[in-house]
Amino acid sequence: MVVRGSGVHLADGLVTNERISRLMDTTDEWIAQRTGIRERRFARKGTSSADLGYEAARRALSDAGLAAADIDLIVFATMTPAHYFPGNGGLLAARLGLSRTHALDIRMQCAGFLSGLQVADAFIRSGTHRRVLLVGAECHAAFFPWGDADWAILFGESDEPASPESYAWGTAHRDRAVIFGDGAGAFVLEANDAEDGRGFLGFQMRTDGHHWDKLYVPGGGSASFPYFSPQMYADNRTIPIVEGRQVFRLATTALPQIVREILERHGLDLADLSLLLMHQANLRINEAVQKALGLPDERVFNNIQKYGNTTAATLPLVFHEAKQEGRIRPGDLIGFAALGAGLHWGAGLLRM
Ligand code: ACO
Repeated sequence: MVVRGSGVHLADGLVTNERISRLMDTTDEWIAQRTGIRERRFARKGTSSADLGYEAARRALSDAGLAAADIDLIVFATMTPAHYFPGNGGLLAARLGLSRTHALDIRMQCAGFLSGLQVADAFIRSGTHRRVLLVGAECHAAFFPWGDADWAILFGESDEPASPESYAWGTAHRDRAVIFGDGAGAFVLEANDAEDGRGFLGFQMRTDGHHWDKLYVPGGGSASFPYFSPQMYADNRTIPIVEGRQVFRLATTALPQIVREILERHGLDLADLSLLLMHQANLRINEAVQKALGLPDERVFNNIQKYGNTTAATLPLVFHEAKQEGRIRPGDLIGFAALGAGLHWGAGLLRM
């Protein structure tokens, strides 16, 4: 399976750290030092993850020189779907004018796109499908209970001070409010019939559900009875819980290990790796992984500084941007690695 085309689309609301600091007790310095993030995009009211994904999908199809009708399978990864059900895959198919394609939804959070690559690869290798459109898209903005006045402050459209209630809420959730961003990325994946060695070599995926409560949303599910309730909102149980320090520790241990494992499984080593593209949860995590693997700066690529953690969209965003900047060349061995809520983590290898 090769990447025939890629495309990205970012939410249009730019939110700098300075703007975020008007809505909660935080600073540009704290955010940049602890996470590397300088700014992120948030979707405006009325734009869902399916809308963001649709734009990225259109661009990936155009990059591939293909029409939607050329696609046999859609795989959509998101943890912020437009609706609780049905998933975004079918919504995207309809937006693309497809009514007979097969569409799968993946809900594996930050590991969603990587898992989508593995699923696409398995379908293509089995011979049942030739071309897969894989999309990762998120609209985290919809988690936050902020009103129009708060969003105007964040988007730099109002210099009014935040209300004491909004500021207090923001401060109570500041560890989570500063790390996310909204956007989408898509790959058009295709069987490679040429015997030229190009394509995905394989994947190594792992899940340890014992850590499910390190990153999760307590309310809004069948574990709650009723599914949703006014009290749930009052108690902020619809907002993700992030045990940041523990996730940080798990990520910096599991990611270097899985990268080594997959290289070894394919008879390769770190010296063969041209570029490592990692999920963008925190620049400090990626720096620790880079250090543990002993990789020089020119063999990693990060863009969390501009986009924050876009969950299922980070891998196509880093791939597309690295390619545009000339950091990915024919023959290169590209490593993908991600870890996220579940916990799910893994790695994949691609020969360009
Ligand atoms: N601004 C200022 N101070 C803050 C902020 C902020 N935005 N956030 C937290 N703090 C304060 C805390 O209140 C705390 O203060 P205290 O010591 O007075 O109590 C102090 O900073 C340390 O808090 P921690 O939460 O321990 O901060 P940490 O350095 O761990 O940074 C962070 C938090 C950025 C979340 C980090 O732990 C992290 O990146 N973890 C891993 C990434 C992660 O979990 N990503 C979520 C993935 S989402 C997914 O997979 C769905």
